[in-house]
Amino acid sequence: MRTKIAGTGHYVPENVVTNDDLTKYMDTSNEWIIERTGIEERRYATKHKESTTTLGAKAARMAIKNAGITAEDIDFIIFATLSPDYYFPGCGVLLQRELGITGIEAGALDIRNQCSGFVYGLSIADQFIKSGMYKNILLVGAEMHSMGLDFSTEGRNVTVIFGDGAGAVVLQPTEDENQGILTTCLHSDGTHAEELAMINPGSHGGYHLGTEKFGYPDPSTPGGVFVTQKMVDDNMLVPNMTGQLVFKTAVVKFPQVIKEALEKTNLSTSDIDLLIPHQANLRISQFVQKTLRLSDEKVVNNIQKYGNTTAASIPIAMSEAWHDGRIKDGDLVCLAAFGSGFTWGSVLIRW
Ligand code: ACO
Repeated sequence: MRTKIAGTGHYVPENVVTNDDLTKYMDTSNEWIIERTGIEERRYATKHKESTTTLGAKAARMAIKNAGITAEDIDFIIFATLSPDYYFPGCGVLLQRELGITGIEAGALDIRNQCSGFVYGLSIADQFIKSGMYKNILLVGAEMHSMGLDFSTEGRNVTVIFGDGAGAVVLQPTEDENQGILTTCLHSDGTHAEELAMINPGSHGGYHLGTEKFGYPDPSTPGGVFVTQKMVDDNMLVPNMTGQLVFKTAVVKFPQVIKEALEKTNLSTSDIDLLIPHQANLRISQFVQKTLRLSDEKVVNNIQKYGNTTAASIPIAMSEAWHDGRIKDGDLVCLAAFGSGFTWGSVLIRW
């Protein structure tokens, strides 16, 4: 028994935000952003009308239709995001409600593995399908970053990179041994957890980090440690990133984890028909492409249009590639991700 991708879908908001648009809020330039990241524009969802769940639902409906099933056939939902509608409950149950999947047979799980969330989700879904537990798993990666970014010059190194969007797949069992997920590789290392993170709000209270950098509450105040006035006053409710450390680590981990998957399946880089890397930064993807000696037509890049959509980037790129005819039956498709945690992983799929 293997797990196949039976349907793909994606959705990006209509509102296009160019690099020039961002110069209205912060000291940056189109040239700087393109040179360092390759990003030309990104999409932002409509405030108060859309949310991570509604973006995910649009992608999910497309994937469900593409798989030739209905929402009622879904027996398990996995939702990967770092920008959920609520602190809790997670987007999985909200998506279930949005899609009208009311049967008590269906379960829902949220994944908090940031840029690697979709790859982790595929691995989890693969185990559930191979064990025979579920027959139609809906896996969604969706983000509405635009609600949680710092649009002042202070936040520009992070803010220019991220965009909103959603991608989804439906996973089903197949007995065809020449088709489906061949292997998944997952890794993590928490050593640099705070170097690419949104620390606040949280239960840490700042103390165990031994630094005021991340903000801490007045210890004499009972309760209320999640969000403090200091966090608000000092603009600490936004993500932070040590860009050069992320870059240096990512360009090592991406090729490593891709090679690991190939070795596990007795394949080589020349067997890859299409590499779909997490769209972190065009410069990172180009570095990985060069390291693996892959030609341009074998690597999917759409970060120029959408920016970095974290958990949504791989499923958006995969759905676009399938609907454009870039993925064909029998192709060996490789997915790879690296991100906050740090966490990273890869998946090999025979389509
Ligand atoms: N516009 C203009 N200037 C900027 C911007 C901006 N948006 N952001 C930073 N700068 C300035 C800095 O203030 C700094 O100015 P200074 O020299 O006067 O102090 C200068 O540019 C250089 O800053 P660095 O942070 O050293 O810039 P760097 O060359 O490292 O580029 C970048 C930053 C693009 C983030 C780079 O480190 C990078 O590509 N890192 C990889 C991180 C990444 O891709 N993350 C994606 C999200 S994580 C993931 O998905 C895995």
